[in-house]
Amino acid sequence: GLRVGILTSGGDCSGLNAVIRSVAKSLMLNQEATIIGIKDGFLGLIEQRATPLTYQDCSGILSSGGTILGTCNNANPFNYNGQDVSASVVEYYHKLDLHALVVIGGDGSLSVSHLLSKLGMNIVGVPKTIDNDLWGTDRTFGFDTATTVVTDALDRLQTTGQSHKRLMILETMGRYAGWIALHGGMAGGADVILLPEFPYDIDEVARACEKRMCEKHYSILVVAEGAKPKNGELTVRERVCTSHDPLRLGGIAEALKQQLAVKLDAEIRATTLGHIQRGGSPSSFDRVFATNLGCYAASLVAQNKFGLVAVIQNNQMTSLPLEKVANKTRLVTTDDQTFISARALGVSFGVVGD
Ligand code: F6P
Repeated sequence: GLRVGILTSGGDCSGLNAVIRSVAKSLMLNQEATIIGIKDGFLGLIEQRATPLTYQDCSGILSSGGTILGTCNNANPFNYNGQDVSASVVEYYHKLDLHALVVIGGDGSLSVSHLLSKLGMNIVGVPKTIDNDLWGTDRTFGFDTATTVVTDALDRLQTTGQSHKRLMILETMGRYAGWIALHGGMAGGADVILLPEFPYDIDEVARACEKRMCEKHYSILVVAEGAKPKNGELTVRERVCTSHDPLRLGGIAEALKQQLAVKLDAEIRATTLGHIQRGGSPSSFDRVFATNLGCYAASLVAQNKFGLVAVIQNNQMTSLPLEKVANKTRLVTTDDQTFISARALGVSFGVVGD
């Protein structure tokens, strides 16, 4: 049978184990493959840490969060502590006698995969991020679970907002994209949703919140961590950064709370969900979706189709060349149906003319 390596790279995400399970089990059952688990993403290739996975290792993990293989955010073989160690990675791949490697990772990991495949490694990628912002695929697994967590949080915040007549602010993840905030906000009935794609006008945000406070005596504002103000030089104290910025000072929910406090006569509370959106058990949708992606990736391996990424387009599994997907993101646009629906229902995005 074939010998196939598998690794998970970048931030963890609900559904990683479901992908590992379906890639491994389908190749074991249908190709009599031996599966080699690479530990801690590309770091395991660099530091030569890999062990065979048994069928048993891949059983009973469908519902668990995280990754049984471990992962690593910053192990780029082309720039590992300033050094290019890609040649030794390729050597290790051959030493392991791998027919192919399945990489489950985000845009950074898929770019690395593209470069490694140019060096002769047979790679199939599976796109991964809770942010749902990878180009070329309609969805990524982990996103449904993350938005479910946001929805649950908003249901809870609604009750406190309503009981205390407060403005409740919730900050979601999503890095430079607003998908989690948009979908979570819509599912949770937010009044105002601020996205990185549409820089907000603070006076407009205040006006929208005030209108809702007048109508129903409380209001819910969802803000994506990457959202930013229009023409916005903020004071250092209010500085708005994503979690990747070392200057992040309490995040955007706190910054907004301070900005709105001087404009509104309302009690305001801010909540930041953070990694709660990324950990834990995948939703049923993500379990099935991740399983389908894994089986599809395995079928590409079985057909000797490499240098590809398994994606979903128009409800159909298909594949795209690694180089097409690498380093590209997909952001919320005004022709997105959820954005259009939000507008139609009077949700404010904090931009003039809402
Ligand atoms: O890309 C996934 C993500 O969770 C983003 O939403 C967030 O900005 C980032 O990763 C957080 O990264 P870290 O876990 O390294 O702080």
